[in-house]
Amino acid sequence: MREAASCCTACNLYIHATQTVFGDGSPDADLFFVGEQPGDYEDETGSPFAGAGGRYLEICLREAGIPRERVYLTNVVKHFKWEPRGSRRVQAKPHMTEILACAPWLMAELRAVRPKIIVCLGATAAKAVLGKDFRVTQSRGTFVDVPGYGPTFATLHPSSVLRITGEMEKRRERERFINDLRRVVSIVDDYGKAAVA
Ligand code: URA
Repeated sequence: MREAASCCTACNLYIHATQTVFGDGSPDADLFFVGEQPGDYEDETGSPFAGAGGRYLEICLREAGIPRERVYLTNVVKHFKWEPRGSRRVQAKPHMTEILACAPWLMAELRAVRPKIIVCLGATAAKAVLGKDFRVTQSRGTFVDVPGYGPTFATLHPSSVLRITGEMEKRRERERFINDLRRVVSIVDDYGKAAVA
């Protein structure tokens, strides 16, 4: 699947991106994390969540007690969308047409991994899976069984927590984010026990 996606030309983003950044993680993962799109660093390395936001996510996962074997990481859009600003490549929001063009890859990853839950990180992922009217700020932390996707949870994107400038607020949001991760695991684990009982 990764090899097939490396040649994807379903939208125009491949033209200015270095490479397709496909999902990565355990094929037996029960927790399926979806972000927005690869950033500049991911575009260069070819791995999702390899940059600062990804490292922050990894620290938070560890703090929440979630081992990497339980995790698969991917993005709704698999090419880096950017605009030039001076010598920098600045990330640009993917358009709905680009999200829809990439959706078959997300569905294929879900069918292959068969996770117990999808965790949407940030507004773009949440809108792609839960619908365009979903507001992460209002409805984060709620579980929704989404037709065609399955049990889904939405929370902030780790990069947005990382960007908070006030020390107190950053610490508070970091705690909330880690608590969201803990909740996801405890619900998945309780559900597993209920299914066995
Ligand atoms: N942000 C994302 O949403 N995805 C990545 O892969 C990296 C940063």
